[in-house]
Amino acid sequence: MKTLVFASNNAHKLEEIRAILGKDFEVKSLKDIGCETDIPETGSTFRENALQKATYVKEHFGFDCFADDSGLQVEALNGEPGVYSARYATMNGHTMDSGEKDDINMDVLLQKMEKEENRKACFRTCIALIYEGETHYFDGVVNGLIIREKRGEGGFGYDPIFMPEGYEQTFAELGNELKNNISHRARAVAQLVAFLK
Ligand code: IMP
Repeated sequence: MKTLVFASNNAHKLEEIRAILGKDFEVKSLKDIGCETDIPETGSTFRENALQKATYVKEHFGFDCFADDSGLQVEALNGEPGVYSARYATMNGHTMDSGEKDDINMDVLLQKMEKEENRKACFRTCIALIYEGETHYFDGVVNGLIIREKRGEGGFGYDPIFMPEGYEQTFAELGNELKNNISHRARAVAQLVAFLK
């Protein structure tokens, strides 16, 4: 059995990847290896941020490791919010509680898109893997449209305003099971798993 660190403490992401990788890999979280640092993500692309996290773990803890970075890219906004997806509203001068964050991020985006006819967007995940001395990248993309008002209660982040291609419902309306089968993250993870297995 090989040990790999997933540079995350997100319980859902860890559970998902452990279930898929089964008994061939022991997947440790940042907490499991005693890493308490909030690893900096200062890159201007998802790839740079994912590599930054994986490299930090390799250099400080010695483990082979993978890390992910995701976000929403809107065509009419030249790829914004992109790597700033989680902090888009703060970057646009808003202050808020963490509980309101998703809602205000969406409000800022919808306002910027108010007069925009081109609604094309995609969610993107990049996974960087440092494994047996080499670095590999796995990308997952899901294309769709930004609708004009929030719809649905499920999911998180920008899910209520994103309608994936081929569906009439938003990610927040489709339910977690379906979303998790077609999402950018699922697609990137599937490639990582295919490589490791
Ligand atoms: P992370 O890199 O997975 O932590 O994602 C960064 C940010 O991108 C999140 O805080 C969300 O704002 C946004 N995001 C990433 N994935 C999704 C998704 O599946 N649905 C909605 N928003 C997402």
